Amino acid sequence: MCGIIGIVGVNDAAPRLVEGLRRLEYRGYDSAGVATLVNGHIDRRRAEGKLLNLDARLREQPLAGTVGIGHTRWATHGGPTENNAHPHATKRVAVVHNGIIENYQELKDELIEAGCVFESATDTEVIAHLVTLNMDRGMAPAEAAHAAFQRFTGAFALVLVFAGEHDLLIGARHGTPLAVGFGDGEMYLASDAFALAPLTNRICYLEDGDWAEVTRAGAVIHDAGGAVVDRPVKTTAVSGALIGKDGYRHYMLKEIYEQPQVIGDTVNSYINPETSRITMPDLPFDLARASRLTIVACGTAFYAGLVAKYWFETLARLPVEIDIASEFRYREAPMPENGVALFISQSGETLDTLEALRYCKRQGQRILSVVNAPESTIARESDAVLYTMAGPEIGVASTKAFTTQLTTLACLAAQVAHARGAIDDERLMSVARSLREVPARAAEVLAHDERLKDLAAEVSEARDVLYLGRGAMYPLAMEGALKLKEISYIHAEGYAAGELKHGPIALIDDAVPVIVLVPSDNLFEKVVSNVQEVCARSGKVLLIADRKGIDRLSDRVRWSVELPACDPIVAPILYAIPVQLLAYHTAVLKGTDVDQPRNLAKSVTVE
Ligand code: F6R
Repeated sequence: MCGIIGIVGVNDAAPRLVEGLRRLEYRGYDSAGVATLVNGHIDRRRAEGKLLNLDARLREQPLAGTVGIGHTRWATHGGPTENNAHPHATKRVAVVHNGIIENYQELKDELIEAGCVFESATDTEVIAHLVTLNMDRGMAPAEAAHAAFQRFTGAFALVLVFAGEHDLLIGARHGTPLAVGFGDGEMYLASDAFALAPLTNRICYLEDGDWAEVTRAGAVIHDAGGAVVDRPVKTTAVSGALIGKDGYRHYMLKEIYEQPQVIGDTVNSYINPETSRITMPDLPFDLARASRLTIVACGTAFYAGLVAKYWFETLARLPVEIDIASEFRYREAPMPENGVALFISQSGETLDTLEALRYCKRQGQRILSVVNAPESTIARESDAVLYTMAGPEIGVASTKAFTTQLTTLACLAAQVAHARGAIDDERLMSVARSLREVPARAAEVLAHDERLKDLAAEVSEARDVLYLGRGAMYPLAMEGALKLKEISYIHAEGYAAGELKHGPIALIDDAVPVIVLVPSDNLFEKVVSNVQEVCARSGKVLLIADRKGIDRLSDRVRWSVELPACDPIVAPILYAIPVQLLAYHTAVLKGTDVDQPRNLAKSVTVE
């Protein structure tokens, strides 16, 4: 992953690089570093851990210079140490890199043979040495860089600075994003427009294979073949404002509490508040007549897609194929004639999802995406985009992005169902009404926060936790388990309740909390039977259900929380909230870093 930034400016670069890195920390926070040109020489400061460590280092040892590069790291090759922190440098070249140079070992062997001495365990260091070697052999910086880029395989975005070159940065994009920013007498490069927002709103996104020579006067952009190309410069709408916690202890809690508002914003953008009619934007293809919908996403966004599969199949009678992006992109799935492929992503930058999108495009599918981040690569490369109105999500664990993805997908599924004649006007209106009630119901669910905090005390003692659900609650069970794992570091699994008896029931004893998500729907009685199976084996059942479920199971369960009765279509949106709060409070009790859990990053731009 990693965030990268470069400035060729008129004022001190280091403080502005750090400010940019603060905005890129969602891409990784294992270490950070900056390098500038000081009297023509490359000088750098790096620090292990979060950006505040680099900030402290720079206060002790400030770095002058108006040209520089910066990096915040999510470690891939080499542990999260200062030595492996970027920028990596020789005397002549320093580089920051996002991605993986897959053939780095072969290049490293060759460079060692040529006399280069490596200091880190990273793949990135080969870039600095190879460009340097090319320059030592007489090439000018741009020529040396371009020749090196042609030798790299894998995905990378990078920025280079050169000793003695006070008016030059070179950037390249191959698979992972890189934006060029146009300032007043200065120029910038960064992983995204958000990093550059305090500096400029004039942005040009490099296309895959592009590389750019950036000076104070502007940018000369080349395509992969080396030809000079024109890329449009746009005025970005990305806001420069840094988002605060508004008095909440963590971003995650703030974002959980924002859900009534942002679900409401999403509902209002897809359902006309006056007529209560679902009015999705016109798509440049007819989804209702598609032969098949293929849904691809990662992590939480994948679980939103899995819920949507139930909706598209049950409500709209539209066949759906779904897979996680990292598997889908390599399994060479045959794609149908007249198929539509749907990609779901908060960041719009997840590399596996993006590559799956490109595969589907090559296979002639029409591309629809559900994205939260405007101007992201997935949004730009789709035939049509449905935006979720979650606003910036800072906490690494996705919460409001998930529920707004579900809201958007429910609107879409209902509209497609109607267009296919699978539901009548009345059912369409009733789904729309149910969706319009979700913000108020979500606020009611949030009122159970204290009760979920009590449950968290019990869950925080557990070594393993099981989540069970059926139908559209099955993905919610997996989402609940993912939330708990990623922020509390407690092992958890989400299972289809009916699958329990095929193996996982062997895990049940009185030390394993079994969290059951069961709204009153057509599968209710089936789940009741599955709960009996758990109880018969001394299992500790914790129930998330409506009044009917609680009345039915109260004598068998150890603990319960009552959610409002609702149309089963909207239940997954509401049942997401207690599992988020449970994970949150458990993590707080465990004392973990809730907003930036270990080993994770918000945007996953490596495969
Ligand atoms: C979990 C989480 C991740 C993301 C996944 C996809 O809380 O946030 O599982 O959902 O990395 O990210 P996006 O949606 O940005 O493609």
